[in-house]
Amino acid sequence: MATQIVILAAGQGKRMHSVIPKVLHTLAGKSLLEHVIDTALRVSDETAPIIINGHQGSKIVDALSHYKVRWIEQKEQLGTGHALLQALPAISDDSRVLVLYGDVPLISLQTLKTLISQTPNNAIGMLTAHLPNPTGYGRIKRNKQNHIVGVIEEKDATPDEQSITEINSGIYLVPAAYLKKWLPLLKNKNAQNEYYLTDIIALAEKEHISIHAVAPQYIEEILGVNDRLQLAQLERFYQKQQVENFMRLGVTFYDPARFDLRGVAEIGRDVTIDVNVILEGRVVIGDECEIGPNVILRNTEISARTKVRANSIIDGAEIASDCLIGPFARIRPGTVLTSHVHVGNFVEIKNSVIGDRSKINHLSYVGDSEIGKQVNIGAGTITCNYDGVNKYKTIIGDTAFIGSSTQLVAPVRIGEGATIGAGSTITEDAPSHQLTVARARQQTIKDWKRPIKKEE
Ligand code: UD1
Ligand code: CA
Repeated sequence: MATQIVILAAGQGKRMHSVIPKVLHTLAGKSLLEHVIDTALRVSDETAPIIINGHQGSKIVDALSHYKVRWIEQKEQLGTGHALLQALPAISDDSRVLVLYGDVPLISLQTLKTLISQTPNNAIGMLTAHLPNPTGYGRIKRNKQNHIVGVIEEKDATPDEQSITEINSGIYLVPAAYLKKWLPLLKNKNAQNEYYLTDIIALAEKEHISIHAVAPQYIEEILGVNDRLQLAQLERFYQKQQVENFMRLGVTFYDPARFDLRGVAEIGRDVTIDVNVILEGRVVIGDECEIGPNVILRNTEISARTKVRANSIIDGAEIASDCLIGPFARIRPGTVLTSHVHVGNFVEIKNSVIGDRSKINHLSYVGDSEIGKQVNIGAGTITCNYDGVNKYKTIIGDTAFIGSSTQLVAPVRIGEGATIGAGSTITEDAPSHQLTVARARQQTIKDWKRPIKKEE
């Protein structure tokens, strides 16, 4: 039987106190709803997931327009049962509907696969769990034979029912034909005057349809985000899971609690990661690399044994093996460092290729450049690559030596083995294997006297 996923995401999320719709708040750099959609797409790609949107719906649709999903609007938020009802015309009778929530971001593929495989085709499957503090959740009612007979919302529950610790996750797998029969029958006579999706459980039990409870692998998978505290708690849980996976694969973290992954990463063996490292986008770190404290790596690949020292930021770069970067280096998109390159403190590099064993150790800006092998760039060197309108290239040949505080006004080419005297402003190409100096000559004025204050 085909599985049709429906994600409910029409609610407002009042407790976030935010102008941003709740499901667009981010966890690990990705919106809550994207987490759910990404998991949904891995469960089944036969039919596109349906997302029920309502409150600030167009903002959500715009933000996630790159996904292959079907958006259905719930014009008024009259409850979870009413929300799912909106999807029914788009669902074929012979499928099963898997209901997910836009604000329950960490539901895992593994748990959903278990729910699907353990629920017979004509039965209802639901994820439930025992919580030490079940406050706020719907409670699972069972009869003497321990069969599920219904769900009672906290606001409608008697004190006895409130003491039940088994909670309803809200995630169900239900044959579409049953939903088509039951959802139009729901009533809103309850504490919240809402059409509760949970009421289908009692209807199922009346018709002797079997109801299977499945437990999630981790409790956190079924926890929802209603406020920023819960968002932060789930963020920590997510980060802990990531760090533990990396440790199992041979990565050392000096403090596993001070690492954040906001994207996907591959990290090799015997890599050490100091505190407060953030990886964003897609990051690859080769074996035996050392990543210092307060380093941010974004969409970057780093090969084996490279050391990135404290407070460096690397974005959109490709870095070969055995490089030494930082502390306080900033490497920007389009940069390629080949092996054994040294980039020191307060050096910014953008859209440039730096050849083997070249060194840019202090206080420099290198942009739109091609730098050969074993080049030495002195402190305070700047490529003047921008005339306010266009950008130009600087090309430096192998083994060139650029003296300190040089400005290279692009477009300009420095020949192989050339030496540029310190303090030069180079506006024309400099020939290979020669010294080029472009600065005023030093003079000493003989018999010059300092002015003396006149007596009145
Ligand atoms: C719901 C369940 C409760 C369960 C809990 C788990 C019902 C009646 N109760 O309660 O048993 O323990 O989830 O987290 O289902 N939504 C819409 N349209 C609406 C109303 C809600 O799309 O008209 C969406 C919300 O955006 C949200 C989800 O449905 O993603 C849950 O709605 P919410 O009002 O938060 O339900 P709970 O009170 O948490
Ligand atoms: Ca709620």
